[in-house]
Amino acid sequence: MSQLANQIAVVTGAGRGIGRAIALKYAQAGAAVVVVSRTQENSEKVAAEIRALGRQAWAHAVDVAEATAVNAAAEKILADCGKVDVLVNNAGVTRDGLLMRMSDADWDTVLNTNLKGAFLVTKAFSRAMIKARTGRIINISSVIGLIGNAGQCNYAASKAGLIGFTQSAAKELAGRGITVNVIAPGFIQTDMTSELKEDMKTALLKQIPLGSFGEAEDIASAALYLASPGARYVTGQVLTVDGGMVM
Ligand SMILES: NC(=O)c1ccc[n+]([C@@H]2O[C@H](COP(=O)([O-])OP(=O)(O)OC[C@H]3O[C@@H](n4cnc5c(N)ncnc54)[C@H](O)[C@@H]3O)[C@@H](O)[C@H]2O)c1
Repeated sequence: MSQLANQIAVVTGAGRGIGRAIALKYAQAGAAVVVVSRTQENSEKVAAEIRALGRQAWAHAVDVAEATAVNAAAEKILADCGKVDVLVNNAGVTRDGLLMRMSDADWDTVLNTNLKGAFLVTKAFSRAMIKARTGRIINISSVIGLIGNAGQCNYAASKAGLIGFTQSAAKELAGRGITVNVIAPGFIQTDMTSELKEDMKTALLKQIPLGSFGEAEDIASAALYLASPGARYVTGQVLTVDGGMVM
């Protein structure tokens, strides 16, 4: 299956978890992949896994919340690869806490990474996509951006913001042949969720009709669909992948 043959994909936060699964899935589908994460070590590790699949890969350490770093990396990536066909804004963090006790720093870190980061990276690559009159942009939000969650005001705001950002960008870029969609994962087993207490996990499980937590692979499959030729006519959509938690 080479649905992404001859395509170049950039995936942020691809050093582990969902981003890594998307990067590997794209490589399996024939794409060359640019792995972006906070640390060079993690980016290199995943890039090596992609090369082992016989695909080209580049590794970059970039803080997506830093405009200068993002712009410099985008320039280098476009010079190295010549184009970018698919962009996945997956980098994200949590800094949970009740509203009354949430520090300004925790608010800023989450909004700057999850929302401003997607804005900066999209802006940095959209010019090349507009020129090429083709492109797929996929943002990774969360069901928390749809329904909220006590203790996650910052995270919910960033992920809800990402949905509005996606829909606006979809309207702006549609005329240039670029689709912009957003995936809202439910509870996916990764490092991000591994710290949740057992009683919290048991309570969460009761809210999931399919009766289990998701895997990074489940989100990667949805991200492959949105990047594939079959999703040509899909834009501005929220694809919820959550075992039926939100419906
Ligand atoms: N795991 C879940 O249940 C779940 C549910 C809904 C949404 N999500 C979203 O999916 C995405 C991936 O989550 P995950 O579970 O794989 O988490 P993770 O913590 O395992 O991975 C997050 C990745 O983002 C990178 N990252 C964080 N801040 C960054 C920054 N400033 N610049 C560049 N890279 C940065 C990290 O280095 C890491 O590689 C996130 O946006 C998260 O909010 C996850």
